[in-house]
Amino acid sequence: MKTIEQQADELIKELTLEEKASLCSGRDEWTFKPIDRLDIPGIWVADGPHGLRKSPNSSTGGFGDQIPATCFPTASALSATWNKELIREVGKYLAIECQALNVNIILGPGVNIKRSPTGGRNFEYFSEDPVLSGELGAAYINGIQNEGVGTSLKHFACNSQETQRMMVSAEISERTMREIYLTNFEIAIKKANPWTVMAAYNPVNGTDSTSNKYLLNDILKDEWGYEGIVISDWVSVHNRIAGIKAGMHVEMPGNDGMNDKKIVDAVKSGKLDEKQIDKLVKETLKLVFKAKAVKKKGVTFNHIEHHKYARKVAGETIVLLKNENNLLPITKEKYNKVALLGEFSISPRFQGNGSSEVKPTYVDNAKDEIIKLAGDDFKVDYAQAYKISDDNDLSLINEAVAIASNADIAIIHIGLPSHYESEGYDRKHIEIPPAQIKLIKETVKVQKNIVVVLTNGAAISMPWLNNVSAVLEAWLGGQAGGGAIADTLFGKVNPSGKLAETFPQRLEDTPAFMDFPGMNRKLFYGEGIFVGYRWYEKRKIEPLFPFGFGLSYTSFEYSNLKLSKEKITEKETLIVTCNVKNIGDRAGKEIVQLYVSDKESRLIRPIKELKGFEKINLEAGAESIVSFELKSRDFSYFDDKFNSWITESGEFKISMGASSKDIRLKKSLLLNTVLSVKVPFDTRTSLREWISYPETKELVYPIVEDYFKKMPTEFEGELIDFKIKNDFFLDMPMMKYVNLSRGSISKECILKLIEDTKKIRIKL
Ligand code: BGC
Repeated sequence: MKTIEQQADELIKELTLEEKASLCSGRDEWTFKPIDRLDIPGIWVADGPHGLRKSPNSSTGGFGDQIPATCFPTASALSATWNKELIREVGKYLAIECQALNVNIILGPGVNIKRSPTGGRNFEYFSEDPVLSGELGAAYINGIQNEGVGTSLKHFACNSQETQRMMVSAEISERTMREIYLTNFEIAIKKANPWTVMAAYNPVNGTDSTSNKYLLNDILKDEWGYEGIVISDWVSVHNRIAGIKAGMHVEMPGNDGMNDKKIVDAVKSGKLDEKQIDKLVKETLKLVFKAKAVKKKGVTFNHIEHHKYARKVAGETIVLLKNENNLLPITKEKYNKVALLGEFSISPRFQGNGSSEVKPTYVDNAKDEIIKLAGDDFKVDYAQAYKISDDNDLSLINEAVAIASNADIAIIHIGLPSHYESEGYDRKHIEIPPAQIKLIKETVKVQKNIVVVLTNGAAISMPWLNNVSAVLEAWLGGQAGGGAIADTLFGKVNPSGKLAETFPQRLEDTPAFMDFPGMNRKLFYGEGIFVGYRWYEKRKIEPLFPFGFGLSYTSFEYSNLKLSKEKITEKETLIVTCNVKNIGDRAGKEIVQLYVSDKESRLIRPIKELKGFEKINLEAGAESIVSFELKSRDFSYFDDKFNSWITESGEFKISMGASSKDIRLKKSLLLNTVLSVKVPFDTRTSLREWISYPETKELVYPIVEDYFKKMPTEFEGELIDFKIKNDFFLDMPMMKYVNLSRGSISKECILKLIEDTKKIRIKL
């Protein structure tokens, strides 16, 4: 039997140029082109990420009819679980639905970074942190791909804004890109190797993502060793020939071969080497055969069982943000009459708008599920309280307040209407509609036991927070989210979610406030690496709720932080362990977070960075040891100057916390690295840089020494020994000494010096 590699090699020889070019774009909206004469099958792709959006017909684009599938919580909810195991399992469920509906590749996960809380697609993305995003993305991919269904890691790269999304260029430094906006992709690629990567709409530093050789070839393939294929986001291709040269395999959706013809012409006119097409087509063929080879026949999925599972998942996404005096859970010992206020309880909003919209198999609403769970123990009175369709209509508030005044506890279910959060545009602010704010204001006058339940895909402001006792963040919880809200309110589920994104007090406090959304086709990343908690901590801005925060109906105690060694070299792995004990009276799950801080560094760094997290399940009174592994990269930063990750020697702090703000244990570590890097010197390298390393100082010293000796006496002595404080001379590029010395230092001499540096590596 021939291997897939052999099959692809043979086919490349048999395919005509036209046929090869035709495989560089899709057949229609959702399928790749088959070539019947050579038995090359077409395969199906479909959105993703939190459920399957499959059209009955492969040429139906846009938001036409869909086949029902299970709608799981969206990514911003899933990420609040911080549970890799659970997300892997969600992947398995999604894969079963893909197989049942004959889909070979699901278009997800989206791991882009939440740069601003107003990002229109934040509900579809995991986190503001690259490690959390990358790890959860990898779990999702592995869960699906282990079942023989492919994924598409999207949107590569720097796709954090919807405004002008098809033309706005992410103007970003290499360091920011590497440490924040690429680390997420790098982790997912290295840990899960998704079958496809989707190139984003936006250009990055002026070059379209779909024809960005630096991103698609140099980094993705060469540096990270990616083995799959790159597809375009839908209609994101601007220059197909440049895309082929950059390594973009398949343009989606198909466009009746418009660009295939351009590929053929480019080869015929000598503008494109046919070998480049062969390489891409061979990789595409290998993927197509792999997809077909693992196709399982006769798979069906049980709608009811999947719906039940979606409820379990949604329960784990909910974050308990406040619970004064243990208002929750609602028990019959404490309360009898429950007022349930808010239209979201009967018209649930369970996913965001745009290409990820799933047609659900069922939809639970919170009201019915609360009434079911309440049974005969409670009397539940419901009032609509506001209209989701009208932000300002106050006409229903009085009735709601009357019901609340007559109850033992009021549940106010509020959030963002669907037009607030969508693919295609960004939010303008982070507020909830005025009528809902008014509802809270009026209800607090008559009821002291208030729990607010939130339905939203991203951070919101909460000017009313001090006036209510409890807050449950229930996100866009998928089709069974209503049931999960009921489960949590009544204590069937002990909340265990934590925030994967900081909730700010005000939009003005947020990292990208001055630059977001970028207009005029440019989007500047002014805050650099200081995204999310990295920003709030460095700027000492108090957020509303910090990254990693979430309460439970029980509590946990941390102890016994241990490092496998107190001193390590960059080649060694550090094992970090600590004990966590459930000291409450009920079972619960805790998310343990490990942060690393660099005490002193050549470049400015965040106060601390998340490098590991684990979720553990503990019975009341139980204790467990949590263990992490840290490697050199976990201590490093990316230095644009050397175009390299740098792990410096020195003291680091390892912190173990229940949130980014609630650090329970700390220990110091000494790192001893022998680090050598290539010298990136060129004609603009300053004298200061030349003399800052012994290896290059040695080269330049004899040349400048002579020049400085001839200088007027006022400089003499000081300058020759380079004990100088004279920034004027030090910060001048060496090439300028050609002019200064009127040619006594020659241009050739400097060029030769630069050439000589290519052979050496310097120690940092
Ligand atoms: C979105 C992608 C999606 C594709 C197909 C695009 O508009 O950006 O995330 O997978 O459409 O629906």
